Amino acid sequence: MADDQTPMTTLILPFGAEAIARAGGLVGEGLPVAVPTETVYGLAADARDSAAVARIYAAKGRPGFNPLIVHVPSLAVAEKLGVFGEAERALAEAFWPGPLTLVVPRTHDCPVASIATAGLGTIAIRVPAHRAMRALLETTGAPLAAPSANASGRVSPTKADHVLASLDGRIALVIDDGPTRAGVESTIARVKDGAVEVLRPGPVTAEMLEEASGLPVGGIKGSEVVAPGMLASHYAPGKPVRLNAAAFEPDEFGIGFGGLAGDYPLSADGDAVEAAARLFDALHAGAASAKPKIAVAAIPDEGLGAAINDRLARAAV
Ligand code: TXA
Ligand code: MG
Repeated sequence: MADDQTPMTTLILPFGAEAIARAGGLVGEGLPVAVPTETVYGLAADARDSAAVARIYAAKGRPGFNPLIVHVPSLAVAEKLGVFGEAERALAEAFWPGPLTLVVPRTHDCPVASIATAGLGTIAIRVPAHRAMRALLETTGAPLAAPSANASGRVSPTKADHVLASLDGRIALVIDDGPTRAGVESTIARVKDGAVEVLRPGPVTAEMLEEASGLPVGGIKGSEVVAPGMLASHYAPGKPVRLNAAAFEPDEFGIGFGGLAGDYPLSADGDAVEAAARLFDALHAGAASAKPKIAVAAIPDEGLGAAINDRLARAAV
């Protein structure tokens, strides 16, 4: 087993049988690997193996108390890890496989290491839709804890290059399957007191949750940190970010939307889905640019726009 502090060579393999076999072997040895999901690239390890999960935190340089999302192949497997009520089951059936994470109580014999859930009595679970993550779940037969594959506090990766930007030399393997589709992390929700609470907005919107569950949907109060990863400054690109720009200054890397193009137009047509898929790449480009500041055009708060603006507000702290 490699010392966690020793720099290692990070291998990049295109998605395919060889990459999945290599990744499965590494996960079996307790080493985390970066793998795309339909939202962002994740850094995956066997959630039952506390040393492997500790290596995720070490690679990310993440404060040790953030609970992780556990990925499983199906609702049937999810029900071995967490207790699903009627409403959670309806949501799982409506949106899995897909970009929804459900927070539920741990089962009594839940095999997931407590370090993966940060000692909480609850567990965040999702069934991903991406072929690479699904193949890795199948080949390992393990529940996979996987936070976004970036150093702690940095912008989430939507391309293999983004993973390397902060984790090169810190992880053994990145499976490259091109840019991710959704571009923002999964929606995190829990059912409480006859309502669905959105802990993190994402691709599955409040309207979609309401329709599938038949329950009212609300967000949590800003001061109540239920999802510790939702702390302000989680998405910092490392330079000042100005939001709702009507125009860009010469010293600003402009992230555009609709009629305001800038250096990196998110969507010339003002399409929130296209903008979400490109958002983190734009922030990475802004971070890498020679310009000392970043400015972002105003984005309407409807649908996926709410998730985009949530991430931008944190990037601007
Ligand atoms: O799209 C995604 O969800 C990606 C891909 C890789 O699946 N994963 C991801 O993981 O965004 P991460 O670790 O960056 O974010 C996990 C979030 C954090 O905000 C964490 O606090 C929250 O999930 N979380 C995990 N367990 C929780 C729990 N038991 N209760 C409340 N929040 C929890
Ligand atoms: Mg993250």
